[in-house]
Amino acid sequence: MSYNLLKGKKGIIFGALDENSIAWKTAVKAHEEGAEIVLTNAPIAMRMGSIKTLAEQIGAEIVPADATNVEDLENLVDKATEILGGKIDFVLHSIGMSVNVRKGKHYTDQNYEWTAKGWDVSAVSFHKTMQALYQKDAMSEWGSIVALSYMAAQRVFPDYNDMADNKAYLESIARSFGYFFGKEKKVRVNTISQSPTPTTAGQGVKGFDGFIAYADKMSPLGNATAQDCADYTITLFSDLTKKVTLQNLYHDGGFSNVGVSQEVMEAFVEKESEK
Ligand SMILES: NC(=O)c1ccc[n+]([C@@H]2O[C@H](COP(=O)([O-])OP(=O)(O)OC[C@H]3O[C@@H](n4cnc5c(N)ncnc54)[C@H](O)[C@@H]3O)[C@@H](O)[C@H]2O)c1
Repeated sequence: MSYNLLKGKKGIIFGALDENSIAWKTAVKAHEEGAEIVLTNAPIAMRMGSIKTLAEQIGAEIVPADATNVEDLENLVDKATEILGGKIDFVLHSIGMSVNVRKGKHYTDQNYEWTAKGWDVSAVSFHKTMQALYQKDAMSEWGSIVALSYMAAQRVFPDYNDMADNKAYLESIARSFGYFFGKEKKVRVNTISQSPTPTTAGQGVKGFDGFIAYADKMSPLGNATAQDCADYTITLFSDLTKKVTLQNLYHDGGFSNVGVSQEVMEAFVEKESEK
């Protein structure tokens, strides 16, 4: 069902790799709600993923950009405003990657070049994106910028590795840049802290199946899916959330405020009684 929440709005969506991607579902939903979108992803993802299928489906143009490359981002902002015929109302940063995770390097044995790369891709790219938008004065008043995070920024999930630090940094950038964007341009900046979700990035984390099942059993509403995340993100792009800014918003079926659930207790008691 569509509520026309984004009727007439123009946005840039980063990070749609394949149909499991949170960004993919958000782009489809934003289109259904009346938005016009420019899609972007790293040049390598153009070859590996299926973003072109999405672009055809929602009538969007694609402007490739490596989100760590300032020139690419400046070009993206110029092209997107040209294609969309005006300023940008919303931006989704849906990007994450750790080389240490990919290559199975333990948190206590980091390759620091890989750490720096993952930090640049997963966190600093958000600053670079906002700086390009800010300096080019490309955001509309009451526009909305959202990045996706994970609760490992606050709590320990050992296999999330250096991505935990990257997410903490990402959330801090949202607050720091959000201050200036709010004061100077009336633009809001938030992060959504999403449940574990079976996507390419999510499944790259060691022990993901256990991780996602545990979170589901802990959350009174169960895990939030990629589709749920898309729906929530649309509300943050809409005019119904104009005064929400500098927030890290948990979108996790309640997981973040639960100490223990009945299901997890029962599983633990069964294990103990088998001893
Ligand atoms: N999947 C989960 O469990 C989960 C949970 C919480 C938060 N998140 C976050 O959601 C976001 C989206 O991830 P997803 O789960 O949809 O996975 P995904 O693998 O579908 O998306 C990650 C995207 O990052 C893009 N990317 C990587 N390097 C890039 C670069 N240099 N420049 C531009 N784009 C680049 C990839 O091409 C891909 O499209 C990420 O920030 C991720 O950390 C995911």
